[in-house]
Amino acid sequence: MREQMPIGVTITRITEESPSIRTFTFDQEIPFNPGQFVMVWVPGVDEIPMALSATDAITVQKVGDATAALFSLGVGDQIGIRGPFGNGFAVTGRTLAVGGGIGVSPLHPLATAGLVDVFLLGARSAEDLIFADRLAETTTLFTATDDGSAGHHGFVTDLLGRIDPIDFDHICVCGPEVMMRAVLGILERHGCTDRGQFSLHRYMKCGIGICGSCCTDPGGLRVCRDGPVFTGDRLIASEFGHYTRDASGQRKNL
Ligand SMILES: Cc1cc2nc3c(=O)[nH]c(=O)nc-3n(C[C@H](O)[C@H](O)[C@H](O)COP(=O)(O)OP(=O)(O)OC[C@H]3O[C@@H](n4cnc5c(N)ncnc54)[C@H](O)[C@@H]3O)c2cc1C
Ligand code: FES
Repeated sequence: MREQMPIGVTITRITEESPSIRTFTFDQEIPFNPGQFVMVWVPGVDEIPMALSATDAITVQKVGDATAALFSLGVGDQIGIRGPFGNGFAVTGRTLAVGGGIGVSPLHPLATAGLVDVFLLGARSAEDLIFADRLAETTTLFTATDDGSAGHHGFVTDLLGRIDPIDFDHICVCGPEVMMRAVLGILERHGCTDRGQFSLHRYMKCGIGICGSCCTDPGGLRVCRDGPVFTGDRLIASEFGHYTRDASGQRKNL
């Protein structure tokens, strides 16, 4: 594991997935478990956590300074990669995946490995439903959009009303935390929170369990080292779905 020093990789392809999301493919393969992440060093700007969306790719939504700097790079430019870090998803048997927006990124390699039976994919509108064509090749795909421009008109969590979570051994989830908390609530009503695997996003500085910036209340679980994937029974009585922390450690309500 490359924990301390980033290795330099060269960008070989940039794919525009939507107006605000691009996939950056680079020239080295990184063996990983789907759901693991890397720390991406954007030279001169910052180092930020990103899920691997394939062995040689990250899929990035432009939200602030570091991601904007990534978007300014082109083929042939270099970035630094540390990792992979964290635990990833652990699945055997029948698996349901629920992805919202850019949250589809860590679930994509799980699906392309043939490990997902049914995939519920949600986004704001049709153009934000990224990877849909590829997911339809290896899973039974159902989509939902907030504006009704594709699939079910409404939230991806509505689709869970048509599916019995008890039919699945694992329910792997990544997306906005409010959406993930809603999924956890549904699993709680079915008495199967332990079947849920939720990939958390928290502000991260070191990515290797040292700095404490990604610790969660009340138990101090570190998202970078103990996660980023946690089963629902470990999250039910935690800060999950209620608040998170910014770079200075200040609480931010969701
Ligand atoms: C384990 C993990 C995996 C991730 N995988 C991906 C991925 O595959 N693709 C992707 O596009 N993003 C992913 N993220 C989120 C990504 O790290 C942040 O969007 C990025 O750090 C923002 O950097 P910035 O400098 O551009 O934005 P900033 O200027 O730091 O922030 C801009 C906005 O983004 C929010 N933000 C900052 N950090 C995070 C964060 N960690 N999670 C959620 N919102 C944040 C801020 O609150 C602010 O509103 C992941 C985060 C984690 C922890
Ligand atoms: S990011 Fe430093 S402990 Fe998790």
